[in-house]
Amino acid sequence: MKKKIKVWFLSAEVAPFAKTGGLGDVAGALPKALAKLGVDVRICLPLYGLIDRRAYQIKPLKTTAIVNWSTGAEKIRIYQTRLPGSQVPVYLLDHLFLNTATIYLQPNDPDDKPNRKIDDVRKFSFFTKAALAAAEALKFQPEIIHCHDWHTALVQHLLHQWPSDFYEVSRVVYTIHNLANQGWAGHNIVRWAGLKNWQGDLNFMAEGIKTADWVTTVSPSYAQEILSRPLDAGLGRYLRQRRRNLSGIINGIDVVEYNPAQDKNIVKKFSAQTLERKKINKLALQKELGLKQDANIPLAGLISRLVWQKGLELFDQQMIKRNCQWVFLGTGEPRYEKQLAALAAKYPDRISAQIKFNDRLAHQIYASADIFLVPSRFEPCGLTQMMAMRYGAVPIVRSTGGLKDTVNKNNGFLFNKLTKTEFYSTIDKALDEYGQRPAIWRQRQLVGMNQDWSWNEPAKEYLRLYRRLLQ
Ligand code: GLC
Repeated sequence: MKKKIKVWFLSAEVAPFAKTGGLGDVAGALPKALAKLGVDVRICLPLYGLIDRRAYQIKPLKTTAIVNWSTGAEKIRIYQTRLPGSQVPVYLLDHLFLNTATIYLQPNDPDDKPNRKIDDVRKFSFFTKAALAAAEALKFQPEIIHCHDWHTALVQHLLHQWPSDFYEVSRVVYTIHNLANQGWAGHNIVRWAGLKNWQGDLNFMAEGIKTADWVTTVSPSYAQEILSRPLDAGLGRYLRQRRRNLSGIINGIDVVEYNPAQDKNIVKKFSAQTLERKKINKLALQKELGLKQDANIPLAGLISRLVWQKGLELFDQQMIKRNCQWVFLGTGEPRYEKQLAALAAKYPDRISAQIKFNDRLAHQIYASADIFLVPSRFEPCGLTQMMAMRYGAVPIVRSTGGLKDTVNKNNGFLFNKLTKTEFYSTIDKALDEYGQRPAIWRQRQLVGMNQDWSWNEPAKEYLRLYRRLLQ
């Protein structure tokens, strides 16, 4: 038997403990799939104030770690639990800099403890060093340190100045989930973080790309797109330099959590054999949201962070000209929240805008929707289109990044330009098929439902990558 590879898995978000988007989903699901393949993977994240310690049986360990920081020797308390539904160990680090009320602190947000003077770049640079100190304190010597997004991008940099030889054998894999969020720090923070030999400002994302042993991103298409404008987010030069050590591995979804045949969140369970039961969910959702109850009117759903990336400016009065109902779920920038809420207020029996984060409702929307919309400007991978397909909702997506790698003409609809003309004509094409050619529509639903969206194959690819790096 091959020796178990030890992986220290660092992420700012890990579902179900702390999540705002896809990063959390990935960090909460990929480790389970890796563990099934025999990898000794352990997760590390900050013990934010929002994490429910009781619900997840998070217990303090006797071991503590010391981080030598510009503020002095900072003591970290280490807590432990397991990833629900698995044996994967999860370590949560407790310290005044880390136990903020929210995961991310916007620059002007009042902190719950104003005297801690922490912001995201300070918090996550501290976390990254704390995570390295914690593994050493725990005597868990990882062969692979797998870090995710800008928050943990400084790993390699910190390893280069690590005082012991504990990490001598460790290789760093850096996964980009979204190149647009880069983490900028001025030189005062660089000093605060105690980075040696550093001059000027620091771009965390760029640093991760330049220094990791291998860079991955979350779909093959996005791995190509970020090599040049416009999707390189200004970092094309660095990415092109690393192109031989850069690859795209498509995300999976948690197919146990997202399974219409066993989903406790939905009104009526169903499978590919009992697809007609989707309608029961639709009627219940229409009732709950105050839409007109009608099993035959097509329902289009969108679940997303409401940000510029997501192409939300497409939604306007034209929606109402179609025989279709529209449901939105998510939070984000006030301008989009207002735009969608105003549309819903004007047409309450046709449009519903749920400006919140609600997991149960999300499942109910996947189960009810006939059409699922992801009109993103760019999309590194995108998970909702896969979740939707698993529940027999047909995706209409912009042809970009991971959307292009998961949706095709057999399971959904794609459009190229982010224009209202292209968007609404694609919607019309879909609505026409839904109404006029139900057999073809059903076929499309079945293709999506029967595809393997699990983490099994992607996890094998990560494992192959780890092995290659350790040869
Ligand atoms: C980010 C990306 C999204 C991706 C997710 C998980 O949220 O925007 O496309 O699916 O990370 O990798």
